[in-house]
Amino acid sequence: MDRIAITGGARLQGEIAISGAKNSAIKLMAASLLTDEPLRLTNMPRLADTRFLGALLRRLGTEVEEVNGPDGPQTVLTTGEITSAIAPYDLVRQMRASFNVLGPLLARTGQAKVSLPGGCAIGARPVDLHLKALEALGAQIDLHEGYVYAQAPRGLKGAQIDFPFVSVGATEHALLAAALARGETVIGNAACEPEIVDLADCLNAMGARIEGAGTPVVRILGVDRLKGATHAVVADRIETGTYALAAAMAGGEVRLTNTRTDFVESLLTKMEEAGVEVERRADGMVIRRNGHRLAPVELTTDPYPGFATDLQAQFMALMTLADGESVIRETIFENRFMHAPELMRLGAEVAVAGGEARVKGVERLTGAPVMATDLRASVSLVIAGLAAQGETTVSRVYHLDRGFERLEEKLSACGAQIRRIRGEGGQEDEE
Ligand code: EPZ
Repeated sequence: MDRIAITGGARLQGEIAISGAKNSAIKLMAASLLTDEPLRLTNMPRLADTRFLGALLRRLGTEVEEVNGPDGPQTVLTTGEITSAIAPYDLVRQMRASFNVLGPLLARTGQAKVSLPGGCAIGARPVDLHLKALEALGAQIDLHEGYVYAQAPRGLKGAQIDFPFVSVGATEHALLAAALARGETVIGNAACEPEIVDLADCLNAMGARIEGAGTPVVRILGVDRLKGATHAVVADRIETGTYALAAAMAGGEVRLTNTRTDFVESLLTKMEEAGVEVERRADGMVIRRNGHRLAPVELTTDPYPGFATDLQAQFMALMTLADGESVIRETIFENRFMHAPELMRLGAEVAVAGGEARVKGVERLTGAPVMATDLRASVSLVIAGLAAQGETTVSRVYHLDRGFERLEEKLSACGAQIRRIRGEGGQEDEE
């Protein structure tokens, strides 16, 4: 397996263009199952996760073509006919979001058999809300032998779906399924993440009638059929925040382009509170930090527009060098501090109790071999390595490859001393 080696201490100087959002791209790809016409996605990130979903979609009958368009990578997905409505365990296990093909398969063919995804490194992550939403839309759901068997022989029917708490995946799943349902669906307590708005925009371009995406109440008037469309994947707010934090950690001045500041406002406010300079621009931002120690910060993760759980590990890395004690509360996932013991191998002082981590800033980190446990945890170790004295090697890099496109290239273009060490063997586990 590959490893990433970082020699810390180099300040970052330069520009990084942000890619399309992984967490949007994979749901948009699933939307292609809803039409027999081509869906062209531009600003597509090329990642392990988009490849996983491409492989699953091919199994279901989709033609997946990766092309280089005038503005960068595109993927064209055409599902003339669904040739199989079965998503097997070996493919869903590799990436949980594959589960979101269930709704589109059901909406288009009236039946589906999709493996349950199971737990993962950051928590149990059940799919009960997804299933309740589909049942509300009239699906008959049976679970056996690790699979969901879903049927809606007379099609799905619009309904009121009130989520007891915010779920990004379940909101997206409800949108995908309700787009072709008969009549009106109203989703209450919907997630408001930019990826939800992106999915609704794409579905509307395909002929759906969705209003209110990005607010807690979304209305979907079902249509008989959807058509092909061209849609640009929204900027990756987590990649944006990660490079903003990398620049703050290493020091220097980095300009992030092809992205939006409003997507990461809760992060930028916390970075400013810590003493990082942020200049907001029309197409992104400039992050500056010059030498001085940062102030500690208190933060709690929350659904959008709150502080993103997917940036919590990276922010913790930054706070390991603050001048005082920071408090970080994780409220979205029950087991998302796996990076803490790895950061401690670099000299950080972190005490975790339940959903709260207290980070006592130290004057310096020292390079060491560390191990990635999930996607965002692994990139927090890379960020910490940028500021640690000596060499840090991060193993299990396949986690990083799931969600960060050309990470070493983007960071080394700004002066980071980072390289990939190619290794033997494949992936040992998955997120
Ligand atoms: C999405 O996961 C993202 N993944 C996650 O990013 C992100 O951390 C998360 O949203 C929160 O922002 C993708 O978009 C592919 P949820 P999702 O449903 O949709 C519980 C990354 O690193 N829950 O909003 O799975 C759940 O266990 C990944 O890119 C239920 O109990 O998250 C969690 O505690 C990691 N039952 C909470 O809700 C359900 O049916 C929020 O999860 C569904 C969720």
